[in-house]
Amino acid sequence: MIIKLINQNKLIFIIIILKILLEYSSSIGEQISTKYTTHYYVKTVLHTIEDTSALFKQSQGKNISVWNENWQRDAGIIHLPYCPSKPSILIPTENKFYCTLPYNDLDEFGRKASAHFIPWAKIDDPEDKSILKNRWIRVSYKEALAFCQLEDVGPETDDDFDYVFGPSYSLPESGLGTGLGLSPEVAEFMGIFEKLNNYTIYLGKILENPDQLNEPDEVRCSWQFYDDKDVPDGPWKDIVTTSTGGNVAATR
Ligand SMILES: *[C@@H]1O[C@H](CO)[C@@H](O)[C@H](O)[C@H]1NC(C)=O
Ligand SMILES: *[C@@H]1O[C@H](CO)[C@@H](O)[C@H](O)[C@H]1NC(C)=O
Repeated sequence: MIIKLINQNKLIFIIIILKILLEYSSSIGEQISTKYTTHYYVKTVLHTIEDTSALFKQSQGKNISVWNENWQRDAGIIHLPYCPSKPSILIPTENKFYCTLPYNDLDEFGRKASAHFIPWAKIDDPEDKSILKNRWIRVSYKEALAFCQLEDVGPETDDDFDYVFGPSYSLPESGLGTGLGLSPEVAEFMGIFEKLNNYTIYLGKILENPDQLNEPDEVRCSWQFYDDKDVPDGPWKDIVTTSTGGNVAATR
C-alpha cells in the first residue's frame, strides 16, 4: 500500500514535469539546446547597476558588482551633477543585456570547492577570476525570448549551487524563492519591464516590512546556460562584455 502511494506521487510528479516541458517546447517555436539544463518558472526580479534593493545585499547601493568594483564606470554610467532631473546617463560601453544568478564561484578566500563542479570548470581556473562572469544565458517569458550575459550575483543569495547547476525542477533556496535577475534592457526587450519593476519593488519592500499588502503579479521566467558560439545574433550582441573583472569579496 505504501509503495503504491509513493509510486502514485512519483507518477504525478513526472506528469507535471512532462506538461511543463510540452507547454514550453510548443510555445517557443525554436529548437532548445539540450546541452545545459533549462530551469522553468523561476521567480524573476529586476537588477540595475545602481540597485539599492535589499534583494542584492552585496552590491546594494554601491554601484558595484561582485566581480567589478568599478562596474558603474565600466558600464558607461556618466554623472550629470548639473542636471538634477537626470543625475546620470548611460552611454553603454558594456553589454546592457546582463543578468544575475544566485551563485558566485568565488568567495573571500578565492575559488570555492563547489566551483570545480561547474560543467565548464578546468583544473587551472584562476583563483581570482570568475568563470561565470560574461557567460551567456537564454531567458524566456511566454513567447518572449532574449539572451544576456551574467554580470553580477543574486538575488538574495550567492551560494545556491544546487539550484543553478541542478536539474530542471530544483528550486532556488532563497527566502523569497527568487532565482534570476534581469537588467532593465532585457526586461524591456521582452516586454515585461513594468510588470517586473512592480514586482521587484514589492519584493524589496517585503524584505524590510513583511506586512505589505497588494501583491502584484509575480514574474516567472525560464533560463538556460548557452555556449558563446550558440548565441544567435540580436541586440544582445551590440556590445559584448569581455572584461574579466576580479574578486571584490577578497579585496575587502
Ligand atoms: C551610485 O550612483 C548613484 C547615481 O548614479 C549616486 O547617486 C550614488 O551616490 C552612487 N553610490 C555610491 C555608493 O557611490
Ligand atoms: C504597475 O504598478 C502601477 C502602480 O501601482 C500600476 O498602475 C500598473 O498598472 C502596474 N503595471 C503592471 C504591468 O502591472
